[in-house]
Amino acid sequence: MRNFDGRIAVVTGAAKGQGRSHALALAQRGADLVLVDIAEQIPCASRMGTPEELEETARLVEALGASCLTVKADTRDPQQMRDVAAAAVERFGRIDVLLANAGIAAYGPVREMADDVWRDVVDVNLGGVAATIRAVAPVMAKQRSGRIIATASSVGREGGPNNANYAASKWGVIGLVKSVAIEMAPYGVTVNAFSPMSVSTDMCHNDLTYRLFRPDLAEPTADDVRDTFATLNPMAVPWIEVSDATAAVLFLASDDARYITGVALDVAGGWNAFHCA
Ligand SMILES: NC(=O)c1ccc[n+]([C@@H]2O[C@H](COP(=O)([O-])OP(=O)(O)OC[C@H]3O[C@@H](n4cnc5c(N)ncnc54)[C@H](O)[C@@H]3O)[C@@H](O)[C@H]2O)c1
Repeated sequence: MRNFDGRIAVVTGAAKGQGRSHALALAQRGADLVLVDIAEQIPCASRMGTPEELEETARLVEALGASCLTVKADTRDPQQMRDVAAAAVERFGRIDVLLANAGIAAYGPVREMADDVWRDVVDVNLGGVAATIRAVAPVMAKQRSGRIIATASSVGREGGPNNANYAASKWGVIGLVKSVAIEMAPYGVTVNAFSPMSVSTDMCHNDLTYRLFRPDLAEPTADDVRDTFATLNPMAVPWIEVSDATAAVLFLASDDARYITGVALDVAGGWNAFHCA
């Protein structure tokens, strides 16, 4: 089904994980892509994308017949993001879909948290999403159409021990999205958040995350943490697949969602039913 034929989509965090999955699904459905990733490591974060992985996403997108512009950029830098938006418009003439997906995680109790662990997580997850939206929103306002989807999280509507930086940043994303949704509605642009529970990517599957869930084990594996992860949601799923995440994001980006704006869409096995709103 080529329901994104002729659309131009900008995806941040496109080197791997959910960003790559979203990019490939959009390409498969007819969109052309602008792929953005920092493609280098921020020290406190779990393994991030590499230049080779960003190139591999581009190769896979082009193999599906889509055109593609690849930009190595840091979403935290507003000027770099304005340059991305300008390059997208120069190459393709417009931006129809923005997936502000790039994010990082790093853990610790807030009373002991190193300054970079606080700063980098909040700067990327909230500041980076804001810089991305601020760069692209003027383009969409001018063309009087567009879809903006920012990736939040289940912990964007609850607290999480050892996760205050991440939770604060993702709550911030939801506040940002709701505010921009109101501002952009008169321009025919929808702005929504996507709030997944754990997703089966490197951000979920790494030693630091595993140790957080099984501090009793020296070297926990995925099998050791599976049951603990599953206790977080009533459907008892340990983590969702990237395809589950992509399906929700594609819906919000599609014509079917044209009057949906200012929501945070949970894909969380019902974890969200524990939240007050
Ligand atoms: N995996 C999970 O369990 C989970 C759960 C809820 C929400 N999320 C969110 O989903 C989004 C995607 O994460 P993922 O699971 O695909 O993880 P991932 O680590 O596989 O991919 C994240 C990508 O973002 C890129 N990135 C990070 N900071 C960047 C920056 N400043 N500028 C440009 N690119 C940057 C990384 O290089 C990487 O390629 C993130 O916002 C994350 O917070 C993930």
